[in-house]
Amino acid sequence: MANTILVGAQWGDEGKGKIIDVLTEQADIVVRYAGGNNAGHTVYIGPKKYVLHLIPSGILRKNKLCVIGNGVVVDPIGLVGEIKGLRKIGVKVNGNLIVSETAHVVFPYHRELDAQREVLKGKNKIGTTKRGIGPAYGDKAARVGLRMNDLIDPVRLEEKLSLRIKENNAVLTTLGARPLSFKKVFAEYLAAGKFLKPFVANTVVLLHTAMRNQADILFEGAQGTFLDIDHGTYPFVTSSNTTAGGACTGSGVAPNKMDRVVGVMKAYTTRVGEGPLPTENQEISDLLHGMGREFGATTGRARRCGWFDSVATRHATMVNGIDDLAITNLDGLDTVETIKVCVAYRHGKKQYDFVPNDAQVLAECEPVYVEFEGWRTPTDKARKFADLPPKARAYLKAIAELSNAKLFIASIGPAREQTIFV
Ligand code: GDP
Ligand code: IMO
Ligand code: MG
Repeated sequence: MANTILVGAQWGDEGKGKIIDVLTEQADIVVRYAGGNNAGHTVYIGPKKYVLHLIPSGILRKNKLCVIGNGVVVDPIGLVGEIKGLRKIGVKVNGNLIVSETAHVVFPYHRELDAQREVLKGKNKIGTTKRGIGPAYGDKAARVGLRMNDLIDPVRLEEKLSLRIKENNAVLTTLGARPLSFKKVFAEYLAAGKFLKPFVANTVVLLHTAMRNQADILFEGAQGTFLDIDHGTYPFVTSSNTTAGGACTGSGVAPNKMDRVVGVMKAYTTRVGEGPLPTENQEISDLLHGMGREFGATTGRARRCGWFDSVATRHATMVNGIDDLAITNLDGLDTVETIKVCVAYRHGKKQYDFVPNDAQVLAECEPVYVEFEGWRTPTDKARKFADLPPKARAYLKAIAELSNAKLFIASIGPAREQTIFV
């Protein structure tokens, strides 16, 4: 399979977890390179549902190595909980999980600041997952963050944490929030550090050693292109580089060692949290929610839904260098009579065929649609491309072409076997 980067081509929750699980079969190592436990990647194995937040989805396959790279922000309490949760249901998590010693650590003051900043923003809030992601990456950029190798060293942890708690308590109390107890946070993090110490290593050297031994690596993107801190709908974004370039900086594997980029996208569009979503549509939201679908895997919030936006996915192909597309949730459109696809945006007299950088302008854009006749037949039992109704095949080909990349996988249900290689 060589080295493959898998990214979300929309606003997150494209079905990356499911596609990663399928592609892991061909890989030796799966690496998470960005984000934190704001991610929620759902994988079904038979009737069993797993939701991964920090641990790569590859953990569910035997004999695969999973790496949490330097670009990830790790909430150690969350990670310990996730490891224990997986072990409880019979998933092995031991030598098959390695965490970068330079990944930054999320502390309770990050979560508290995340929540307080949202309150301050009022109606302009981002709608974050409140996992402390923004403040943790903020500390990383400000060079005041603690990394995993600080967490697992009790002396350094005590020294650095006491200073950080002092500063953050001054800010929190000014904002009207309660100060944190150093003693309590230190005790919790000391215990988590002790638990996690055997998992922590130099993942850059490890990945390069593995590559010299011909290992194939799958880079598991979190969030989506339009949540990227640079290329997304700023400020309604997350705080990391979720796009393909983030796989290099977030793992220490150079661009010329990457062989392929796979973009995952739904056959329609969803977004959770605030910010512009040009093709948002009540009818399709009601339809999908009525089927019990499109509720967030991390926060349980109802996702906003809309028609497929090819202006956005074409832009995603451009900034990520997407070669191949995995189109998921085709079955969500099985009952729709007329399916719309956005092919341009109109803003006053101007027409856009790319995503404008100004979130305000994007929010004011009117989608220009083309229409497709729905196939109105269940697709979930299809196992080959030829099994799909002709109108569904035409729709898939059309949205792949509009997205400027090759159709590689069509997914017609959450299960492994509901995956069609085209
Ligand atoms: P991720 O964050 O990109 O991994 O996506 P999530 O797991 O947050 O959300 C995707 C949801 O769609 C999950 O509930 C998946 O089980 C589900 N899913 C993925 N592919 C398909 C599909 O082709 N059809 C259906 N019905 N569900 C799918
Ligand atoms: P996966 O990996 C969908 C959204 C939040 C919010 C914004 C900022 O499952 O696709 P943050 O907590 O990161 O500061 O929130 O980003 N968001 C996601 N939306 N899927 C995700 O991850 C997301 N991670 C963050 O809802 O709008
Ligand atoms: Mg998700």
